[in-house]
Amino acid sequence: MILVTGASGFVGRHVVRDLAADGTRVRAMVRTARGAAMLEGVECELVRGDVTDPASLRAAARGMRTIVHLVAIVEGSPATFERVMAAGTGNLVEAARESGVRRIVLMSALGAGPGATVPFFRAKWAAEQAVASSGVDHAVLRPSFVFGTDGGALPRFLRIARLAPVTPVIGPGTQRVQPIWIDDLARAVRLAVDAEGSGPPVELGGPEAVTWSELWRRIKLALGTRRPVLHVPFWLARGPAALFERMPPALLTRDQLRMLEGPDNVVTDGGASLRRLGLGDLVGLDEQLRHAAASQPR
Ligand SMILES: NC(=O)c1ccc[n+]([C@@H]2O[C@H](COP(=O)([O-])OP(=O)(O)OC[C@H]3O[C@@H](n4cnc5c(N)ncnc54)[C@H](OP(=O)(O)O)[C@@H]3O)[C@@H](O)[C@H]2O)c1
Repeated sequence: MILVTGASGFVGRHVVRDLAADGTRVRAMVRTARGAAMLEGVECELVRGDVTDPASLRAAARGMRTIVHLVAIVEGSPATFERVMAAGTGNLVEAARESGVRRIVLMSALGAGPGATVPFFRAKWAAEQAVASSGVDHAVLRPSFVFGTDGGALPRFLRIARLAPVTPVIGPGTQRVQPIWIDDLARAVRLAVDAEGSGPPVELGGPEAVTWSELWRRIKLALGTRRPVLHVPFWLARGPAALFERMPPALLTRDQLRMLEGPDNVVTDGGASLRRLGLGDLVGLDEQLRHAAASQPR
């Protein structure tokens, strides 16, 4: 049986559904009744747990063969990132070891690394280290942006492109991203669950890496809208981001601005680790955007 943490989230809902559809028995960890409701109709056992509560993790991990760890946050103070993502993963690793769990699949993110300074990426790196030093067989997945119709950043991008009189592109729009479709990511998780031993992090991106300017152009093309672009310099976006941070869920945070200013969010190994995992054909960017545009209200 497999424990999936962060099961109520965008990726979690797809991963639980995908594993269950494949005949795998899944225990889905959620925090609240609202989280549980997100999995209504999906064949899985529900367990309540919070990564900051080690006792709840011990109960959740009991009897599990594998854990897929998806919990993360996108906003909060540096201390909150540390508590939930870094220490939280440490708590989970402890619980896994106590319960004799044989494999851990950790969802990290492109950008995690020893030199990371943004709290999110620093916490992801700490989580990777906790899993790597656990003594338990493991796989670490590092996706770029994950696109889908029912969560992640894309629905928000589509709304902005559809409704805003101008399309705000933050910074020069020259940094690149490599969105991967949610079904492909769920497939990657399944392959990582079934793999054996431990290896270096698997970098996951879709078939195309594009600049932010190009991404917004393609989004508007998929929607059939023709709004002008307005480039917002990073320095000018900082003030509004500081304001948004006080109204969670924030439209934009200063940490996210730093991520946008940072290096490209694309795979650095030419797709080698992704192919090694056995992930074959991937949904192309235009197809991703067409799917998502079709799910928008007319
Ligand atoms: N979406 C992307 O584009 C993307 C890109 C790269 C990497 N990733 C990674 O993929 C994973 C899943 O992302 P997502 O997009 O599905 O995020 P999400 O929708 O925000 O889901 C996050 C999940 O974590 C849970 N969670 C938060 N704090 C928790 C805590 N203290 N204890 C237990 N559970 C807690 C949330 O539960 P509640 O529902 O109760 O809040 C939710 O189920 C994350 O590790 C993320 O960093 C995502």
